[in-house]
Amino acid sequence: MVVLVTGSSGQLGQSLQFIAPNYTNIEFVFCDSKTLDITSFNNCETIFSKYKPDFCINAAAYTAVDKAESEPEIAFEINVNGPKNLAKVCKLNNTVLIHISTDFVFDGNKSLPYTEKDIPNPTGVYGQTKLDGEIAIQQIWNKHYIIRTSWVYSQFGNNFMKTMLRLASERDTISVVNDQIGTPTNAVDLANTIVKIIISKKLKFGIYNYSNEGQCSWYDFAKKIFEINNITINLLPIPTTSFPTPAKRPKFSVLDKSEIKNTFDLEINSWEESLKNTPL
Ligand SMILES: NC(=O)c1ccc[n+]([C@@H]2O[C@H](COP(=O)([O-])OP(=O)(O)OC[C@H]3O[C@@H](n4cnc5c(N)ncnc54)[C@H](OP(=O)(O)O)[C@@H]3O)[C@@H](O)[C@H]2O)c1
Repeated sequence: MVVLVTGSSGQLGQSLQFIAPNYTNIEFVFCDSKTLDITSFNNCETIFSKYKPDFCINAAAYTAVDKAESEPEIAFEINVNGPKNLAKVCKLNNTVLIHISTDFVFDGNKSLPYTEKDIPNPTGVYGQTKLDGEIAIQQIWNKHYIIRTSWVYSQFGNNFMKTMLRLASERDTISVVNDQIGTPTNAVDLANTIVKIIISKKLKFGIYNYSNEGQCSWYDFAKKIFEINNITINLLPIPTTSFPTPAKRPKFSVLDKSEIKNTFDLEINSWEESLKNTPL
């Protein structure tokens, strides 16, 4: 079985490379943005005709949430036209497309976990382009899984955990918002879940939510990062209003994972457990 991964130098891409040796029955083809630019249909076609993948995991995306507000065209090109090209080329090659989306498709006005049936209503350019990317895939190619995830971190790439650890080495005091609630997702757990879906051969296509279990604020997340790493720091909880950002973020974006757990018989670690097991 051939599984092609786009965006292989990002944190999910690197997490997939990290776990790949555990799955010896799968031939992984890892393509970074230089080998495969998903915004070029010709580039997608050439790579697909060379490797003829059974599955394509799209780990490529424009993920700079705040920057997207000032460069919406670039975000649109990567998050909408990219998935559109992949859906077209997957259809031509009968390849199952596994695309990653985000909790930022929701406005955050709910107070109970979001299910796959809740109506998206993004509050910023990034969330809008991710939603438009989902819609483009749904319109083009039915053999798709769209996995919405949240607050992704890992030992790879840039993420909140690494930012907190860096700031702790530079400052005595750190302020973190405590009124945005969500769930951290360990990218290696996400990578293993994607591969489990592939090897399940269930082919129950559609949208699925995935994150670790539990919920917390960014402040709680930071507190746990410092606790686990035995770092003493003055950590201050602040409201979102004291930390204005170009993009508005959902106040509450916990995802209900019942669907993915029941369909693929998955057990999911709590976010605290996965954080503890994340190497630096
Ligand atoms: N990070 C989060 O907190 C979070 C939360 C929810 C959902 N997600 C979703 O999870 C997925 C994986 O996120 P991540 O954190 O792994 O992102 P990431 O670390 O920012 O990686 C994204 C990768 O996409 C590549 N890329 C950008 N433009 C490309 C193009 N035109 N063609 C091919 N590759 C391109 C980048 O390559 P270069 O570096 O070479 O440009 C980078 O390696 C994304 O779909 C994201 O929207 C992430």
